[in-house]
Amino acid sequence: MKTVVSGIRPTGHLHLGNYYGALQNFVRMQHDAKCYFFIADYHSLTTHPDPVHLHENVTNALAEYLAAGLDPQTATIYIQSDVPQVAELSLLLSMHAYIGELERTASFKEKIRKHPENINAGLLCYPVLMASDILIHRADFVPVGKDQEQHLEMTRKFARRFNTIYGVEYFPESMPYNFGRELTKVPGLDGSGKMGKSEGNGIYLADTDEIIRKKVMKAVTDQGPTEPNQPMAEPIANIFAIMKIVSAPETYGHFLDEYNTCRIRYGDMKKQLAEDIIKVVSPIRERIAQIKSRETYLGEVVAHGAQKARESADETMRCVREIMGIKRF
Ligand code: TYM
Repeated sequence: MKTVVSGIRPTGHLHLGNYYGALQNFVRMQHDAKCYFFIADYHSLTTHPDPVHLHENVTNALAEYLAAGLDPQTATIYIQSDVPQVAELSLLLSMHAYIGELERTASFKEKIRKHPENINAGLLCYPVLMASDILIHRADFVPVGKDQEQHLEMTRKFARRFNTIYGVEYFPESMPYNFGRELTKVPGLDGSGKMGKSEGNGIYLADTDEIIRKKVMKAVTDQGPTEPNQPMAEPIANIFAIMKIVSAPETYGHFLDEYNTCRIRYGDMKKQLAEDIIKVVSPIRERIAQIKSRETYLGEVVAHGAQKARESADETMRCVREIMGIKRF
């Protein structure tokens, strides 16, 4: 049976990018593979969240995972910091990670550009910690969005390097996974780039219907095409991209046809898109509210998850220590 691992940083509510890029794919795989899904609280520390909010963010993420359909009976759901073996593996793998390659990581370079006041070693070593999350369970597949592609490449590089240096075939080649399709990138509604928490352009699984309608209606558009089959400007292409992911194929086809024949009314398209997003989000939102109120249940889910994740992690660390020559007296 194949092993699947994925995680999300708890930095506020989950948005449609997290849902379509990772969570929904994971939910679809959870009954056919050995699945581990975790809340990456160590990773979220790179941006120094207020300690007062960290636990609240973790609780939100957990309730939102469950509301989106993760089944704690089938999948192992845990908090990353409940499995400190991940930190140990990260330390060991960092001995074979080179500063140059870490500095060249796109996500690191972007962080330097956006937050020059906070370039910490945790950010630099982020790909090593992420590789450890994946390799601690020796994952075959990792359902993630397009933005994580480079981190997965680095994970495979670290795994191969470990195998070569120690002359073993221990770590697998963990592959990003989206059911044989291109990895998903859900764009933002603000005209350019991806939907993201730090970008502030997200539609959240916890948003009310009204908020969703408002956000979608405010999406950037242009004056409309003046000739048939005109190439789309980025903001328009982004709205179509979201519709392709969320709406029925006929709906998408209808508006594409309207665009290509210069009859498109963006107002109508946005109204339809908002309703289609609401159809996906509103049942999840209702479940989030119910699940969040069940504190004991949430505690049981993560305690059970931590125990199962630690068993798998212990087994890996036992082998890794032996391979590296770390022996107990
Ligand atoms: P994070 O928390 O930024 O996002 C969680 C997941 O959501 C996906 N995602 C998107 N997919 C498509 N379109 C978008 N606009 C979009 N925004 C986010 C991400 O690709 C990701 O799959 N480093 C990771 C968390 C992590 C992890 C791991 C993931 C830590 N360790 C091990 C997989 C395996 C991150 O910051 O994701």
